[in-house]
Amino acid sequence: MKTMKEIVDNTVGKEESYTQAVDILKSGGVVAFPTETVYGLGAVATDEKAVQRIFEAKGRPADNPLIVHIGRKQDVAQYVADVPKVAEVLMEEFWPGPLTLVMEKKPGVIAETVTAGMHTVAIRMPDHPVALQLLQKLKLPLAAPSANRSGKPSPTEAEHVYHDLMGKIPLILDGGATGIGVESTVLDVTVTPPVILRPGGISKEQIEELIGTVHVATKPEDEIQTPRAPGMKYTHYAPDAPLFVIEPNLAVIEHALDHIHQQKKRAAIIGPDELYTEKADWYFSTGSIDSQESLATNLYRAIRQCDTTDADMILAIETDLSGIGAAVMNRLEKASDGKRFSE
Ligand code: TXA
Ligand code: MG
Repeated sequence: MKTMKEIVDNTVGKEESYTQAVDILKSGGVVAFPTETVYGLGAVATDEKAVQRIFEAKGRPADNPLIVHIGRKQDVAQYVADVPKVAEVLMEEFWPGPLTLVMEKKPGVIAETVTAGMHTVAIRMPDHPVALQLLQKLKLPLAAPSANRSGKPSPTEAEHVYHDLMGKIPLILDGGATGIGVESTVLDVTVTPPVILRPGGISKEQIEELIGTVHVATKPEDEIQTPRAPGMKYTHYAPDAPLFVIEPNLAVIEHALDHIHQQKKRAAIIGPDELYTEKADWYFSTGSIDSQESLATNLYRAIRQCDTTDADMILAIETDLSGIGAAVMNRLEKASDGKRFSE
């Protein structure tokens, strides 16, 4: 299969590209498209066969449910049995935006594979002009996981999608680099208080400011009174070389590099501008140390850049857990499998 890349500038609507995308989707195919978080690989969420194609292209285990993307807030009523009050408040404030809500599904509407046989469905309305135009022209919900090969970092540029899925999907709508850079927050509102199943683009603080205390599911083993996000048990975002988290301290980092070099090994570093060191064999900057937002925006690209080097290991400089820092550290925990650098 030949993969086409259609540039759809955010301001100039390219009618033919959307028509082409809608035609592919309506005939049961998959299309990659940008959202404000990461690129998604979409298929019509009510079409079981189409949804299967997502799992095939990604090489994703089929017991990991997908997020349903909608183009208008009111569409939620078509797929959800009962929208809790708290969800209404959250939708009003954060949609369109990077917040996914897990709710009781209306039986028989969304394809079974999308929800992995569970009685709940995860829904969000993305805040990206291309995603919204596509959804509004299609007039159907799109099941869409991140458009990477399973086990690779989520794509934040069309080029990343092309790298991972070339020949496996017919079309990528190229809307440039995504803004937020980490995936949406997944919040289970079927329980009280609601539980954050995956930290993401909307922070715990932002949610709590609006609806009060929420819980955070930290480990898959956690026995919380909710079906945990099955995705939590998979190793995600694994770069080619082993990744270690390291503290944001130049002396500690340089000491680590000396140690690594003594062992005749080489390291790539992912860190802020301010901690740049010439001792690093490769240094991929994520922007200013004062901006957790730019760290989120640039993280996945930096991990992919590490994969283009011959580094024996990757050191990723940590950030604190406030705001979007929680999502960034969650992804680094996964990429490192919990490893921190120590001699
Ligand atoms: O930002 C995002 O959310 C991106 C863009 C493309 O929208 N999408 C994305 O999808 O990250 P995916 O499939 O990579 O992650 C979906 C997450 C997984 O952790 C999955 O387990 C969880 O949502 N999830 C989906 N349906 C669920 C459900 N019914 N109950 C609990 N968790 C669910
Ligand atoms: Mg993903």
